[in-house]
Amino acid sequence: MNINNSVRTKAPALGVCYYPEHWPESIWSEDARRMRELGIRVVRIGEFAWSRLEPRDGVYELEWLERALSVLHAAGLSVVLGTPTATPPRWLVDKMPDMLALDSEGRARKFGSRRHYCFSHAGYSSACARIVSIIAERFGQNPAVIGWQTDNEYGCHDTVESYSNAARDAFRQWCARKYGEIDQLNHAWGNVFWSMELTGFDQIELPNLTVTEANPAHRLDFQRFSSDQLVAFNRRQVEILRKFSPGRAIIHNFMGAFTAFDHHALSHDLDVAAWDSYPLGFLERSNHAEAFKLRYMRVGDPDFQAFHHDLYRGCGRGRWWVMEQQPGAVNWGKWNPVPAPGAVRLWTHEAIAAGAEVVSYFRWRQAPFAQEQMHEGLLLPDSKPNAACEEVARVAAEIDALAPYPDTRRAAVALVFDYESAWAWRIQPQGEDFSYPDLVFAFYRGLRRAGASVDIVPPDPAAVEGRRLVIAPSLFAPTTAFVAALENCGAVVLCGPRAGAKTADFQIPPDLPPGPLRRLVDITLSRVESLRPGSEIKVESQGAIIRWREFMSLRGDTVAELQMANGEIALARNGSAFYLAGWPDEQLMDLIYEKLFHEAGLDYLALGECLRIRDRGDWRYFFNYGACSLDLRPFCNGFSFLLAGETLDPCSLAIATLTASR
Ligand code: GAL
Repeated sequence: MNINNSVRTKAPALGVCYYPEHWPESIWSEDARRMRELGIRVVRIGEFAWSRLEPRDGVYELEWLERALSVLHAAGLSVVLGTPTATPPRWLVDKMPDMLALDSEGRARKFGSRRHYCFSHAGYSSACARIVSIIAERFGQNPAVIGWQTDNEYGCHDTVESYSNAARDAFRQWCARKYGEIDQLNHAWGNVFWSMELTGFDQIELPNLTVTEANPAHRLDFQRFSSDQLVAFNRRQVEILRKFSPGRAIIHNFMGAFTAFDHHALSHDLDVAAWDSYPLGFLERSNHAEAFKLRYMRVGDPDFQAFHHDLYRGCGRGRWWVMEQQPGAVNWGKWNPVPAPGAVRLWTHEAIAAGAEVVSYFRWRQAPFAQEQMHEGLLLPDSKPNAACEEVARVAAEIDALAPYPDTRRAAVALVFDYESAWAWRIQPQGEDFSYPDLVFAFYRGLRRAGASVDIVPPDPAAVEGRRLVIAPSLFAPTTAFVAALENCGAVVLCGPRAGAKTADFQIPPDLPPGPLRRLVDITLSRVESLRPGSEIKVESQGAIIRWREFMSLRGDTVAELQMANGEIALARNGSAFYLAGWPDEQLMDLIYEKLFHEAGLDYLALGECLRIRDRGDWRYFFNYGACSLDLRPFCNGFSFLLAGETLDPCSLAIATLTASR
C-alpha cells in the first residue's frame, strides 16, 4: 500500500517504532506480519543504530538494514528511516573527545547514554553529514522508505546549550554577524552596567560560571544562538536527504513541554512536524497539584496532548504526526502507572481528531535489556501481546470504518505561542512561578473548557488572518508588523499580561510597557509585581489575579472592562482589543472567555473538567477524561453519531457529524 496516497486521502494510519537491531533476524518477518495484522501501516526504524551501521570508522555494514527494509516492505509496511545522529558511537567520541557538549558547570556530558554531542562542533557535524549521506544514498530510493526522521528529539535531556570552546567560538562569530561593531553589542546588552563593556568580539564569554546572574541580554542572545546552531545542524541533514531521497517526507519528532529551541524555525525545513506523546509520563513530570495527578494518573491531563497536537499542526503547516505514542507504562516518570483501559484508544483518536496523519506507538516489543527495560511496548519481552494490542486493533478497525476523514479546518480561535518569549521569561521570571509555557497553557485550557477547537500559531502576521479570536499572552517583544496584523485582522484580540514588556534587546521600552502594543490598547503599565502562592487579588465579579499583576493607567479611548476589588483595572478594552493586567485564575479566565466569545460571535460551551471537544471538518469529537459517564445532549443538538452515542462512557470517545447521512 502507498501510505502517501492514503495520507493525501485523509485516512490516518497507525505506526510503530521498531528496532530490528535489537532482535534476531529470524523473527523480523513474523514481527512484520503481526504488525500488519494488527492494523499497523508505518514503521519507524534506525534512529539509534549508528554502532551497527558503522561499527568502526569508515567501515559500513548496511546490508542488515537493507534486509530489514525488504522484510517490512514485503509485509506491506512503509518505513520512516531515522538518521542515527542522536547516538554517536564510541569510536567517534574517542576520535574527537571534544565533540562532547559541556554543561553549564563546564563538565563534559560523557559517552554512555545518548545525545552526547555539541551542536557547534564542526567535526561532529561533518561526521553526521557523512553517515547521513551514506545512508541516504543507499536507501533514499528504497521502495519501503516513505520518509525520514532527522536525529531524535533534539534537545532531549537538556542538550540544546553547550558551554564548549566550539560553542564559545561560534557564539563570538554569531555576535559579530549580528552586531557588526562591538559597541553596538555593548549598547544592546547595556554593558555599561557593572563595567561589563567589551572592546572586541573575541572577549565574549558564554553566560555560565559568572559570580552572580549573567546579563539577561547576553543570555537571551546565547539562547537564540543555541537555537540557530541546532536549526543549522538539522538543515545540513535535510539538504542531504532532499538530494538523495527527493519526494520523501522529512520529519522530526519534537517533545512535549519543551521550549529550548525555536520549533517554528526548525519546522520551516521539514515536511511534517511530529511529536512524542507520553500522557502519563508528562503528567507525572508536570507542576500539577497532587490531587490533579491522582485524578488523571491513568488517562493524562485532558488538555496536554491536545495542546501539543495543535502546536505541532501549526509547526508542520498542517502536516503532523505523533511519532511515539505511549502504549503502556513508561520508565521515566517519578511513578509509572499503566494506562486505564481505553486510554490508548482515546489518545489515538484524539490525535486523529486534531489532524494527525500517523499515530505511531513506542515501541513494538519491550526491550529486556538496558535503560528502557521497564518501558512497555505493544508486545511483552517474550513477544506475547501486551494490553494495548487489543485497543490498537480496535482503533485500526474504527479508522477503516470511519474513512474517508474530513479535512481539518483553520480554527476560528488562534493562540499565539512564541519561543523567544519562553526564553525571555525563563531568564527573567521575576516571580518563581512565572512560567510562559504554563501561562499559555492556562489560556489554552480555558479555551478547551469553553469548547473551542484551537490553532496554536507563531507570532506571524499571516497566522492571525481570518480568525475571530486571537489570544496572545505575554509576548515579550512583539514586532511592529505583528502588532499591525493584530490591529487589522478583524478578530477580537486579547494580550497581556506581561506583553510588550521588553524590546528585542531585552530592555524596558523607552515609553514603558506595553511598548508597540499601545497601538492596540492605549494604556501604560508603570509597575508590576509577582505574587507568592496563596496571595491573590480579587476581581470584582468573579475570580482573581494570581502570580503576576500589573498597574495600569488608561489613555485615549481605552476603557476599563473589569476591575479588581480594590478599584484597579484588571481588563482594559479598546474596541475589539483587550489587555489583561495579570495572571488569571480559572474563574477569571472563564469570565473573560465568556465575554470574548460573545464579542467574537463564538459559541461558549461550559464543558467543565473532564469533557473535551475537537472539531474536524464537520465532525465533532467528544472525549471523556473523567471517571463517570457524561451526557452529551447539550452539545450535539442536530448532530448524528458516527461512533458511540449521547451517553459517553468514562475514558472513551464519541464522534458526531452535522451531515445527516454520509
Ligand atoms: C522518547 C525517546 C525514545 C524513548 C522514549 C521512552 O523521549 O524519543 O527514544 O526513549 O522517549 O519513553
